[in-house]
Amino acid sequence: MSKTLAIIKPDAVRKRVTGKIIDQILDDGFNIIAMEMLRLNTERAQAFYDVHKERTFYDDLVEFMTSGPCVPMVIEKKKAVTDFRKLIGATNPAEAIEGTIRKQFADNVQNNAVHGSDSNENAAKEIAFFFPSIEI
Ligand code: CMP
Repeated sequence: MSKTLAIIKPDAVRKRVTGKIIDQILDDGFNIIAMEMLRLNTERAQAFYDVHKERTFYDDLVEFMTSGPCVPMVIEKKKAVTDFRKLIGATNPAEAIEGTIRKQFADNVQNNAVHGSDSNENAAKEIAFFFPSIEI
């Protein structure tokens, strides 16, 4: 079993589709081993997306991620990182394939409903960011 970090982002929480997204994660065979609803402050959102700080969209991304509550969770499966990236679809929902979470629920490349770690190394860092007591 391996783990990854998922976040149901503020746009999806506002649309009241948190439950639908959780159902899809469970139906895909993931176990949810930690989950919380919280609102990031600016400092925490900046820190989480620090790798993107030179990108033109960074300030807007931080504003979006602090615009309301989000739901970070640690999910587990045999190939958690790759399977979750498949389930969520392309970053830009216009490029996401039918049936993926972003295809169904994302508005655009920024307000894209969910986050999933992009490597095992980043999964470990991102899990520790939200859930420091979880063993990886
Ligand atoms: P996420 O998977 O959380 O990783 C980085 C986030 O930055 C991404 O989802 C989007 O929310 C946002 N993002 C990525 N590319 C762009 C872009 N070109 N314009 C605006 N936001 C972006």
